[in-house]
Parts: sequence; structure tokens; C-alpha cells
Amino acid sequence: MTTIALITGGNKGIGLATARLLGERGMTVLVGARDEARGKDAEQALRGGGADAHAVQLDVTDEESVRRAADWIDTSYGRLDILVNNAGIVRADGDGRPSGTTLAVLREVYETNVFGVVAVTNAMLPLLRRAPAARIVNVSSEVGSIASMTNPDSPLWPMASVPYPSSKTALNMVTAMYAKELRDTPIKVNAANPGYCATDLNGHNGYRTPEQGAEVSVQLATLPADGPTGVLWGDLALAGGDGYGVLPW
Ligand SMILES: NC(=O)c1ccc[n+]([C@@H]2O[C@H](COP(=O)([O-])OP(=O)(O)OC[C@H]3O[C@@H](n4cnc5c(N)ncnc54)[C@H](OP(=O)(O)O)[C@@H]3O)[C@@H](O)[C@H]2O)c1
Repeated sequence: MTTIALITGGNKGIGLATARLLGERGMTVLVGARDEARGKDAEQALRGGGADAHAVQLDVTDEESVRRAADWIDTSYGRLDILVNNAGIVRADGDGRPSGTTLAVLREVYETNVFGVVAVTNAMLPLLRRAPAARIVNVSSEVGSIASMTNPDSPLWPMASVPYPSSKTALNMVTAMYAKELRDTPIKVNAANPGYCATDLNGHNGYRTPEQGAEVSVQLATLPADGPTGVLWGDLALAGGDGYGVLPW
């Protein structure tokens, strides 16, 4: 039985790399893209590499688009094995400090990074429940970790901004709550910290490649039955460690 994986924001950056890596494992990869043309381009690129890839129009902030995508997956496959909630945005706001935060930017960031994840997860859950052992991966960030952001010894200590970091903190709690609700099912729900990766999100300033970031999502998407659920997992570098593991919330 082929594994069916949906990656939101799968048309570029870490999402596209995640689709490529999952496709290389023989999975059918559904490339969620809010822009149909960008989705088709990604589909073609992935197919060129041998993957069974299909673009799906999916704007995580548009409930109708989310419902249509779920209906299409239901009709086409009848289930979903892996959901990677990868779509995310950063928005500049004033001087970037908490005191300069505007509600318009805060709402915009939360619409995608938090509300979008809840909307997509709830729409896909009936399909995920039909899979033998589904995995949900919420792509978070170490800047969402209160422990890391308030540690004076962390390289993240100088950063003080509300929209993006707090949206990822909210996403961490969303992750923990779904994991709790689903703890008596085979479904595992975890948050991924890809590390600082060079993508459009940060003007390609990251020191890791999108593929290295995607590797974290792939690890969580392919967890064995005795793997963790309800954790923040990923690159330990910013926490002063090596390799991958559980990070503090
Ligand atoms: N890069 C890093 O260092 C880093 C570190 C920690 C966490 N992350 C997280 O990793 C994830 C991927 O980021 P990235 O670095 O790969 O950024 P990216 O290259 O900017 O890609 C973001 C993706 O999300 C999509 N997207 C944005 N809003 C959407 C919406 N409303 N509906 C559907 N798709 C939407 C984008 O689509 P369009 O092409 O249409 O804009 C794009 O495909 C994000 O959740 C981000 O917060 C990144």
C-alpha cells in the first residue's frame, strides 16, 4: 500500500525538499500550494526526479480551499498517512520590537502559522484516522521555544519580537493538545524544528540547507510505533547539542 503524504506549502523551500525526500522513499506526495501554477511547477520538478507527485491547490487561510483539498484527497485516495503542516510566513512589523507590534501583522501571521494548521488538521483528521498509523508534523521553530528564547546563554537571546515567535509557541501548544487528544490512537503528532535554513523566508541567510531542514520533518513523518508523540524535535545546534533530538518547549 503506497503511503500518501500531504505537505502544505510544498512548492518551495523546506516544504519542497520534504516532498522530494518523501517521494524518494516511494511515497505519493501531495504538494499543497496556494498558487496553482507554483504547485504545478513543483509537481513537474518532483516528477522529473521520479516522484509520484500531485499538486493540490491549498491555501491554509481559506477554509473553502482546505475543504476542497480534503474532498479531493478523500475521492482520490480515501485516506491520508502523513500530514506535514509546513506552510508558514514571517512578516516584518515596524522596528520588529514587541512594542511596535501591530494587530494587523499579528493576525496575518497567526492566520497562516496557527489558525491554518488547525483548519487543515481538522479537515484532514477523518482521512488520517483511516490510515493504519498516521503521522502529523507541525513545522515549528526554535524561536517558538520559551525555554530557548528566555535563556541568556542562547544565541536567540537578543531576539525580541512578537508575531512569528509567539505564533510558533502557539503552534507548539496546538501540537501538544492534538497529541493528547489522539494519544490512544496510532496517530503521532509532533512539532519539527528544522534549524536555520537558507530559504526565501529569511532571505537565504540560514546556514542549513532546505534538505537538512526537511530531514527533521521526514524523521517525524516516518516515526516507528514506539516513537515519541507530543514533542518538539529537531536540530539541537542552537540548544548547544549535536544532531537531532527532543528540544525544550
Ligand atoms: N527557513 C528557516 O530557517 C526556518 C526555521 C524554522 C522554521 N521554519 C518553518 O519552516 C516552514 C517552511 O518555511 P521555509 O523556510 O521553507 O519558507 P518559504 O521558502 O518561504 O516557504 C514557505 C511556504 O509556505 C507557503 N505558504 C505561505 N502562506 C501560505 C498559505 N496561506 N497557504 C498555503 N501555503 C502557504 C509558501 O507558498 P508561496 O510560495 O505561495 O508563498 C511556501 O510554499 C515554515 O513553517 C517556517 O516557519 C523555517
